[in-house]
Amino acid sequence: MRTPVFPADRPGAVEQVAGILQDGGIAAFPTETVYGLGADAFNPEAVARVFAAKGRPSGKPLILHLSGPEMLPQVVADVPAAARVLIEAFWPGPLTLVLKKAGGVPAIVTAGGVSVAVRCPAHPVATALIRALGRPLAAPSANRSGSPSPTTAGEVMEDLAGLIDAVLDGGPTGIGMESTVVDLTVSPPTVLRLGALSVEALRRLLPDLRVPADRRESDAGGEAAPGQAAPTPRYVSGARLVLVEGADIERVAVEVRRRAERYAAGGSRVALLATAETAGAYHDLGPAVTVVEVGARRDLAGVAAALFRTLRSVERGGVQIILAEGFPEEGLGAAIMDRLRRAAGEVVRT
Ligand code: TXA
Ligand code: MG
Repeated sequence: MRTPVFPADRPGAVEQVAGILQDGGIAAFPTETVYGLGADAFNPEAVARVFAAKGRPSGKPLILHLSGPEMLPQVVADVPAAARVLIEAFWPGPLTLVLKKAGGVPAIVTAGGVSVAVRCPAHPVATALIRALGRPLAAPSANRSGSPSPTTAGEVMEDLAGLIDAVLDGGPTGIGMESTVVDLTVSPPTVLRLGALSVEALRRLLPDLRVPADRRESDAGGEAAPGQAAPTPRYVSGARLVLVEGADIERVAVEVRRRAERYAAGGSRVALLATAETAGAYHDLGPAVTVVEVGARRDLAGVAAALFRTLRSVERGGVQIILAEGFPEEGLGAAIMDRLRRAAGEVVRT
């Protein structure tokens, strides 16, 4: 199978991809967070092809993407008051709500469960595509299972060329970090995945929002309880990611430096993920250590936007070790640390 890439701004491109989806095809499309791999939510065979193309376990349900709240009655049984408040404040945007599902939603979408995840992406191409299809799009992130979520059409093609029917190219996604997932079917409402919308922003409207302590090590399914073995490292296949955490960034940088020297002396090639504030501390580490800036510590949105892209590119570079600095777990920092810890083979606390 050849996978055509349609520039989203070419006249007729959105309608063409909507036609592919109408015929049971599967296609990647941009959202404000990351690229999604969409199928008509009411076509179980098409949804099955999404699971197959990603190599995704069938027990992990998909998010339904809506053009707006007017699509909710098609997919959810009721909209509780808390959902109304959050929708009013944060849709369209990077917030996914888990609600009681409506009868018509195919079982494969929800992995057989009675709840369904819904969100309304804030991206004109995604909205136009869902409108043209006239139905919700069931879509996980458009990566092979275990790789970082893609933020460009090129990254989608790296993982899925030949496995999917089309890519709608809307350029790089703005946020680069997946949506926050909140379960409103339980009491108190509970965060199932940290993401682009901060817990602080949610708690302003939902003060009793619960964030389980082990959230950082889980992915709503396939999680290790506290005290059990660490979860299988994700995202970084060929290299070992070592994450150095600590409240004092100068001490973190000293430990990162010490380790970079040690790994290089042992014959490893090292990629060191630095920030604008710390990169100067690493400039003289020699040819075995490549220093890559992921943004500035005072601009965590920039770090979030660069993180997955950087992990992909250093992995491509064929290093043995990726050394990463930790970030304060406030605002977007919580989601950034969640993703870094999931990718890490080793976490060092300074
Ligand atoms: O930003 C995003 O959320 C992106 C874009 C494409 O919308 N999508 C995304 O989808 O990251 P995915 O499939 O990679 O992650 C969906 C998350 C998973 O953690 C999944 O377990 C959870 O949402 N989820 C989906 N349906 C659920 C349900 N019915 N109950 C609980 N969790 C659910
Ligand atoms: Mg994903």
